Amino acid sequence: MKPMTIIEGQKLPTLTAPRVSLRWLQDNDMPALFEIFSDPQVMRYWSSAPWNDKAEAVQMVESIRDHFAKGTLYQWGIARNSDDYIIGTCTLAHVDTQNRRAEIGFALRSDHWNQGYMFEATSTLLRFAFDKLGLHRVEADVDPRNKASIRLLERLGFQREGHLRERWLVGDEINDTIFFGLLRREWQRID
Ligand SMILES: CC(C)(COP(=O)(O)OP(=O)(O)OC[C@H]1O[C@@H](n2cnc3c(N)ncnc32)[C@H](O)[C@@H]1OP(=O)(O)O)[C@@H](O)C(=O)NCCC(=O)NCCS
Repeated sequence: MKPMTIIEGQKLPTLTAPRVSLRWLQDNDMPALFEIFSDPQVMRYWSSAPWNDKAEAVQMVESIRDHFAKGTLYQWGIARNSDDYIIGTCTLAHVDTQNRRAEIGFALRSDHWNQGYMFEATSTLLRFAFDKLGLHRVEADVDPRNKASIRLLERLGFQREGHLRERWLVGDEINDTIFFGLLRREWQRID
C-alpha cells in the first residue's frame, strides 16, 4: 500500500465545483467567518457554543494555519464562485497518515441551506481526499438530531457505524454521537 500524500506548499490547493470553490482562508475572510459561526442555527449541533466575539475568527484562522503546517487538520473556506465570498467551511480533521483516515466536518451560512451547496462542496472534498491524498477512510461524528447533516452524509454514501452515548458536553447539554464512515472503495462506486 502506498503511503498517504501530505499537502505540501504554503497553502491548501483550491478545489473547484460548479457553484463554489474550496479555498485557503485569508485575513479578509474573517467577517464572513464571524457571520457563519456566530449564528445559533449553524451552531445548534456543533461541539462548541456560537461565537460572540470577533476575536474568535482570528483564533480560528491562526489555528487553521498552525494545523496546516503540522499536517493534522485541513480546513478550506467555501467561496461562492460568483463573488469569491465565504459562505462556509469544510474540514478534514484528525488527519492520520499512518492509517490513511481523517474526519470530515462542514458548516454553511444558514441563508444558503437546502440549495445543494454543501453536497457540491463535500463531494469535491471527498474526491480530493480519496483520489489525491490517498485516504482509505473518512469518518464523521454527528449529533443524532442533526437531520440535515445525517441526510447529507447518507447521500454521500457514508454508513452509520455506531451510536456513542453522551460524548459531548456543550454548555448545559450532554449530547450523543452517531459515528459514520465512508471507505475509499465505497466512494469509488458512487463517484
Ligand atoms: C449540514 C449542512 C452543511 C447542510 O448543508 P446544505 O447545503 O443545506 O445541504 P444540501 O443542500 O447539500 O442538502 C443535503 C441533503 O440534506 C437535506 N436537508 C437539508 N436540510 C435538511 C433538514 N433540515 N432536514 C432534513 N434534510 C435536510 C437536503 O434536502 C439534501 O437531501 P436531498 O438531496 O435528498 O434533497 C447545513 O445544514 C449546516 O451548515 N448545518 C449546521 C452546521 C452543522 O451542523 N454541521 C455539521 C456538524 S457535524
